[in-house]
Amino acid sequence: MLLKWAGGKSWLTKNHKQIFHSQDSLISRAFNNHPSIEYKRYIEPFLGGGAVFKYLKPNNESILADINDELIGFYNCLKNNPTELYSSTQKHMNAHCKDYYYKIRAKNNLTDETKKASRFLYLNRTCYNGIYRVNSQNEFNVPIGDSEDFNVSEEEFIEYSKMLAKADIINEDFRISISKAKKNDLIFVDPPYVTKSNESSFDMYSANQFDWNAQKELSQILEAKNKEGSHIIVTNIYDKDICKLYDKKNGWQHKPINRANVMAYNADGKKYKEIVIKNF
Ligand SMILES: C[S@@+](CC[C@H](N)C(=O)[O-])C[C@H]1O[C@@H](n2cnc3c(N)ncnc32)[C@H](O)[C@@H]1O
Repeated sequence: MLLKWAGGKSWLTKNHKQIFHSQDSLISRAFNNHPSIEYKRYIEPFLGGGAVFKYLKPNNESILADINDELIGFYNCLKNNPTELYSSTQKHMNAHCKDYYYKIRAKNNLTDETKKASRFLYLNRTCYNGIYRVNSQNEFNVPIGDSEDFNVSEEEFIEYSKMLAKADIINEDFRISISKAKKNDLIFVDPPYVTKSNESSFDMYSANQFDWNAQKELSQILEAKNKEGSHIIVTNIYDKDICKLYDKKNGWQHKPINRANVMAYNADGKKYKEIVIKNF
């Protein structure tokens, strides 16, 4: 993966591949030989590090959206200018040290799209735990981390660019991107993990709050899309209030899962299970 992203789902694509396949395909053949369910367009309203998009590599058009404008600017630059982005990022990585990190972090008024995108990627790869957090002036304020490796080749940037060629990559709220879904589109939904009892713990430093009301509204919007015939996969914390939002009577299947070999903790430091809720 190019980005480190809090809540990234590459573990899901490695350890729980069956989620991306229909019951029929699981019964009739080994899912490794059967790419995934059939769908028209792929829609991911909370894109983040985009692990599931990378796993599925949709052949058709996609809508990839996130509320984080720097993240979306980065993906658009990767799609349109992979070679320039690669060399600009390499320059940062070659110069990396503590002073350089803080010098680049302070440059928050760049206008050139490639420079903005390479700064975003450089800070993401070298900051503490790949966290994205901004202050009240919308300035990135995460301290330096201890990772110094950047083993990605120019060819990989070009591969990503090809993968993104048919994607519409947009900076917008989930309410807008999900409203574009139609019958037989696949919507993969990985919202911030907010529950009724821990609303403020996950996204508290981000300029864009996602609270319990948003979590409820999301489920209502998805229920409407369920009725319209979209294929939907939702990931979330395994929590009774979250489960209640997706009524099994309406065709939602609840599949609690553990991250194999990885301890997942919520903001209170407790181990938690996650859940996949899907309608196919
Ligand atoms: C759990 S992360 C997604 C992780 C992603 N699936 C991955 O593999 O890296 C949640 C994402 O939702 C975005 N987000 C938060 N509030 C949002 C909103 N109201 N609309 C759209 N995106 C939002 C955040 O910027 C963040 O990138």
